[in-house]
Amino acid sequence: MRTSSNSPGGSLRKSCDVLVIGGGIIGLVTAWRAAQRGLRTAVADPAPGGGAAGVAAGMLAAVTELHYGEELLLGLNLASARRYPAFAAELEEASGQEIGYRACGTLAVALDADDRAHLRELHALQQRCGLESTWLTGRESRRLEPMLAPAVRGGLRVDGDHQVDPRRLASALLTSCERAGVVFHPGLAGQLSVVRDRAAGAVLQDGAEISADQVVLAAGCRSGALAGVPPEVLPPVRPVKGQVLRLRIPGTYAPFLSRTVRAVVRGGHVYLVPRENGELVVGATSEELGWDTTVTAGGVYELLRDAHELVPGVTELPLVETLAGLRPGSPDNAPLLGPTALPGLQLATGHYRNGVLLTPVTGDVMAEALTTGELTAEAQPFSPDRFTTSADSSAAAAPSVRPAGFAPSADSP
Ligand code: GLY
Repeated sequence: MRTSSNSPGGSLRKSCDVLVIGGGIIGLVTAWRAAQRGLRTAVADPAPGGGAAGVAAGMLAAVTELHYGEELLLGLNLASARRYPAFAAELEEASGQEIGYRACGTLAVALDADDRAHLRELHALQQRCGLESTWLTGRESRRLEPMLAPAVRGGLRVDGDHQVDPRRLASALLTSCERAGVVFHPGLAGQLSVVRDRAAGAVLQDGAEISADQVVLAAGCRSGALAGVPPEVLPPVRPVKGQVLRLRIPGTYAPFLSRTVRAVVRGGHVYLVPRENGELVVGATSEELGWDTTVTAGGVYELLRDAHELVPGVTELPLVETLAGLRPGSPDNAPLLGPTALPGLQLATGHYRNGVLLTPVTGDVMAEALTTGELTAEAQPFSPDRFTTSADSSAAAAPSVRPAGFAPSADSP
């Protein structure tokens, strides 16, 4: 990896066209696409390639995660889902690494009468939005996935919701950035530099100064915590904790599940994402607990209990990993993309439940915004200015989301 070489204890001024603060998948795809456009690009992050992608299951669930009132977000999600096959091929070529993109489809199922009513509502909403999904009886669902519990009372077959392996995605993006000439500064961003009312770079916590014509704040749920960002443009993102389990499907059990299986059980989402390499990811809790990333007995219990109700055989599998990550939640569950009211400062954050899905479109949108200053038509509803506050009201509109320490990639999308 090309890294900056800071002199011990002293500040070292480095300059670039674009400085991306945060090396999670959103920061990396932004840096990769910017470098491809010929911009001299740097990323500041103590552990690039980490962040929430190390926890996420990697569902590309534009249709099965549709929610009322999120039709605009649906458009962006679908735009990104459509890009995925070509994006995956290009990224694999650029990095020489596979990213586990699997066009396997998804089955959303219902376990009781309430679940079935909920699923019927989702189906009706999908149909109103012109999306492809097919209602199945419980028997038809089990014919598709024989490991499902006899209690399953109905299902929605969505052949267009796929999956990718977020850890491999992050690794491939990191390698592609390196190959494209992106420079990595392995430090925490301590403060945004603002010179004559314009973002001009950042000072890292070790004192190194990086000057840049443009700065992209892409630090996941910690994007609202960078010192020096004027309050009226500070992104209103918050951490939403998700606990996730990883199990292993022994070769003798294959095929355990042939596609992603998910359900709403007692109001909570549970999903099982089977990878071709035998990994089975079970997720995820959704907890508003600030910066806490403790894996709790209760969280693991609830996930296993709900997964077991869906697919009883799951409790026979080896449990290999338990993790918690922080989604970058925004007030309308949609990302903040592109220029802010502070010249020179752009945002790529707030991707909430859709960071992995939105990675391809975010890269394209940000590259365009960095080279032209404009948002593409599909991204215009996601401009940060929808949350821009006047200087007077900013304290109320942007509640404190500042954690004790600022670690960009630790929880980026
Ligand atoms: N999109 C899945 C999750 O956020 O849990």
